Amino acid sequence: MKIVTCIAPVNIAVMKYWGKRDEDLILPINDSLSATLNTNFMCAKTTILASPDLKENKFWLNGKEESFEGKRLQNCLREVQRRAKDMNPDVLGWKIAICSENNFPTAAGLASSAAGYACLVSALAKLYNIEGEISDIARLGSGSACRSIYGGWVRWHKGELSCGEDSVARQVVPSSHWPEMRVLILVVNDKKKKDSSTSGMQRSVDTSDLLLYRSDKIVPKRMEEMITSIKNKDFHNFAKLTMQDSNQFHATCLDTYPPCVYMNDVSHSISGLVHKYNELFDENRVAYTFDAGPNACLYILEKDVEEFLSVVNYVFPPPEVDQVEYLTGMPLENRKI
Ligand code: PMV
Repeated sequence: MKIVTCIAPVNIAVMKYWGKRDEDLILPINDSLSATLNTNFMCAKTTILASPDLKENKFWLNGKEESFEGKRLQNCLREVQRRAKDMNPDVLGWKIAICSENNFPTAAGLASSAAGYACLVSALAKLYNIEGEISDIARLGSGSACRSIYGGWVRWHKGELSCGEDSVARQVVPSSHWPEMRVLILVVNDKKKKDSSTSGMQRSVDTSDLLLYRSDKIVPKRMEEMITSIKNKDFHNFAKLTMQDSNQFHATCLDTYPPCVYMNDVSHSISGLVHKYNELFDENRVAYTFDAGPNACLYILEKDVEEFLSVVNYVFPPPEVDQVEYLTGMPLENRKI
């Protein structure tokens, strides 16, 4: 019998991945860049048991049994086992039980699949003792998962090959490069999103002209500027590029037919608030970015966190009576504005 456990945190993209050129291998149409959160608050935890006594393979997600036959799970498992061929003939022959948990809302546009598949693939790699590149395997589970294999600032290179071998993640700089950086997550709504990123992205590839313009003409140049601003710790420019990229991603979502609408009125008030706040100082001190959901991820330097949070609590007043719920994070949508 063998048991392994791994933990993987979510990553928050500042240059978004949206659109695949190969649906099965999950090959993207543009490079993307994110920071992997350096925390145990938003992460996936996966334990795998392999035993000669197990009669069948099993998979539990957040305490609920799920099918083991899911295509993405199977693709990851097959690839790890292929690379492990000669390593552990015993363990390879045993059935496995996978138990995965997220300590934050799943499929609510909070990068749960990124943490989930990065964690699953890391645990499988540990189980079968495979070493070396595994970000390309995590990519087979969920594109953005390849970036959560590494810590710090991570770029997913779209790659050129049709087999996907060069579509891998690479660390740009470790998190220690910019230790003052913080991420605040403002939970607007923690329900499951209407349009999954898979279906939304496919519709965008099929119908949005803006998406192609973005991937060809905008992302390559913006990526270089973004990496320079991170290397130089130039928060003002970093924030500008991050917000522009989030806005352009949501513009391509609206350019999709029928449109993918992920941000709601509260999301837009948060972005308005960030711009008003930045204007007060004549420089950017906060940057918002929104994934495929209404929740806001804010990049901010440690020195500004306290002041900005007091502004958030002023604009979205926490309920006075139920302090407990407030402390455990009441979605902003449900607060009186
Ligand atoms: O990895 P997926 O299929 O969940 O796609 C995620 C895409 C975004 O989160 C919207 C952007 C990104 O780069 O993470």
